[in-house]
Amino acid sequence: MTKRCDQVKAWQVLQQLKVEKQTLDLRNIFASQENRFEHFSLSAPHVFVDFSKCMWDEQVEDALLELAGQTDTEQLRDAMFAGELINTTEQRAVMHWLLRVPNGTRLPLGLEQSHKEVIETLERFLSFAELIRADNTITDVVNIGIGGSDLGPQMAVKALDEFVIPTKRFHFLSNIDAHESLRLFRTLKPESTLFLIASKSFSTLETMTNAALAKEWFLQAGGKHIQNHFVGLTSNTKGANAFGITTTFGFWDWVGGRYSMWSSIGLSIAIAIGEDGFKSFLRGAFEMDHHFKTAGARDNLPLKLGLLDIWYRNFLNYGSRSIAPYHSGLSRLPAYLQQLEMESNGKSVDKFGLQVKYGTAPVLWGEPGTNGQHAFFQMLHQGTDVIPVEFLVVKDPSHTHVKNHELLLANALAQAQAFMIGESKDAKDLQTAPTVKVGDWASHQADSSQHAARRFPGNRPSLFFALERLTPESLGALIALSEHRTFVAGAVWGINSFDQFGVELGKKLTQNIVNQFDVEHPMNIDPSTQGLMIKLKLKSVP
Ligand code: F6P
Repeated sequence: MTKRCDQVKAWQVLQQLKVEKQTLDLRNIFASQENRFEHFSLSAPHVFVDFSKCMWDEQVEDALLELAGQTDTEQLRDAMFAGELINTTEQRAVMHWLLRVPNGTRLPLGLEQSHKEVIETLERFLSFAELIRADNTITDVVNIGIGGSDLGPQMAVKALDEFVIPTKRFHFLSNIDAHESLRLFRTLKPESTLFLIASKSFSTLETMTNAALAKEWFLQAGGKHIQNHFVGLTSNTKGANAFGITTTFGFWDWVGGRYSMWSSIGLSIAIAIGEDGFKSFLRGAFEMDHHFKTAGARDNLPLKLGLLDIWYRNFLNYGSRSIAPYHSGLSRLPAYLQQLEMESNGKSVDKFGLQVKYGTAPVLWGEPGTNGQHAFFQMLHQGTDVIPVEFLVVKDPSHTHVKNHELLLANALAQAQAFMIGESKDAKDLQTAPTVKVGDWASHQADSSQHAARRFPGNRPSLFFALERLTPESLGALIALSEHRTFVAGAVWGINSFDQFGVELGKKLTQNIVNQFDVEHPMNIDPSTQGLMIKLKLKSVP
C-alpha cells in the first residue's frame, strides 16, 4: 500500500535539508555552480523551463526524486494512463488524456471502445464546428458555462487569437449576475447568434439561469428555431432535450470538468480555430502526455515541477505562487490555473479519509506581466512574504513590432533578475552610515528609512517558462504540462485530485436561502445570514 508522503524516508531527508539549505542564497549561487543554468533547465515538447532561479540545489532535487519514488507517484501515473479507477471517492477512471490520443494509436487493453467513442464524438463536433465556420449568418458564438465549462475554452480562444476566424465574435458568459448577460444580449441579434450551453451536469445553477435568460431573450427578440441556435455540450442529454435543445455533443464521467476542454466542451475553441487547429491543440497535449509517461525522472518536466511545488509548499512554507504571463493572450491563464490546481489539490483529507498534516494546494494568483509590475510587484520585491513568481514568455510574437516585443521580454528577464540578485548598494551604504549621536535620532531615522526603503533584498525565487510561439500545439502542451504537474503534487500528497466536494455545501445553502428569500422570518438560518437576508430582500429596496 502506498505510504503517506510524511512517513517515508525522503520526507525526513527533506526536513533535514530544509534546515541545511537555509544558507542557500540565489544572489551568489551561480558563483559556486557555474553550470547551474544548464543543469536546471529542461525542455519538453514545445516548452522550455529554467529552474535555475529556484530556491533549490542538486541535493534537494535528488531527495525530491526519491520522494516521488517512495510515494509511488510514477505508479499512480501509470495507473491513470491504464484507465484504472484512480478517482477513488467517485470510483471513476481519470482519462482526459484519452481525448488527445490520435486515431490509430495503440492503447492499453480495454480502452479501445472508449477511444472509439472519443474519436466518433470528436469527428462529429469538429464537423459541426466546420459547418458553423462556413455559415456566414452566424456572427456571434456565446459559450454559456462556468468553472471547467468556461475557463479553459475562454483562456484558449483568447490565447489563440492569431488563429481565430475573423468573421465571428466569441463571448463567454459564466457569471450568474444578469448585469453581465443583459449587457451582452444588447450587442447580439438572435438570428446571427449561436449559444453553446456547456455543462457536464446540465444542472449547474449559474449556467442554467443564464441559459434560461438567453432563451427568454432569444424568443422576446424575435428569435425562431431554438434548435438551430442552442447547442448542448453535456453528459446529460436528457436535461438538454428538456430545455429544448436537439443538438448535443456528449462526453464521459471519466472527464473531470476542469480537464474537459479537450472534449466537446471545447466546441467554442474548435469553431474559433477550426478542425485542423483543434487537432493541433490535441496533438501538442498528446506530445506532453507522451513525455510525462516516458521521460526519465530527471528529465521529466511535469514531475520536476510538481516536486518543486512540494518543496516550496511543505518545506519552505511558501503559501502562494504568482503567475505572470508576459503575453496578453494568456491573460486568462492565471484564472484557468486557479481552478486546475486549487480545485484539484485544495484538499485536507487523503485518499484514505485521514486528515493530512501538511499543506496542500497553495494560493495561485496573477496578472499579465507588465501590468502586475505596476500593481503588486512592489510586494513581491519588498514585502514580508516570499512568493515565488512564474514568468511565461513567448519568443516569437505574432506581430512585426520587434522592438515592442524586445521590451516585453526584457521586462520579464529584468524582473526575474531583480528578484534573484536584489540591489545591495544601499544596504552597504547603510552599514557604513555614521554612528548616531544622542538627540539625532529623528534625522537618522529619516535618513536610514530613505536608504532602507530603496533596498531590494533579492534572493527571491522564480521560474521562467518559454514557448517558441503561441500556437495551438504549444498551448496544448503547456496546458497538459500544468495538468500533469498538478497530478504529481496531488499524488505525492496522497490526495484525490479528481473530486471537488468542497464546492457542494455552498450550492446547497444557496438553494436553502433562495427558497426562503420571500419568507418573512427565514427558518433554520443563523442570525447573521438571516439579518442580511432581511436587509437584502428586494421588496424593501427603495
Ligand atoms: O464548481 C464545481 C464544478 O462542478 C466544477 O468542477 C465544474 O467545472 C463546474 O462546476 C461546472 O460544472 P458543469 O459543467 O456540470 O456545469
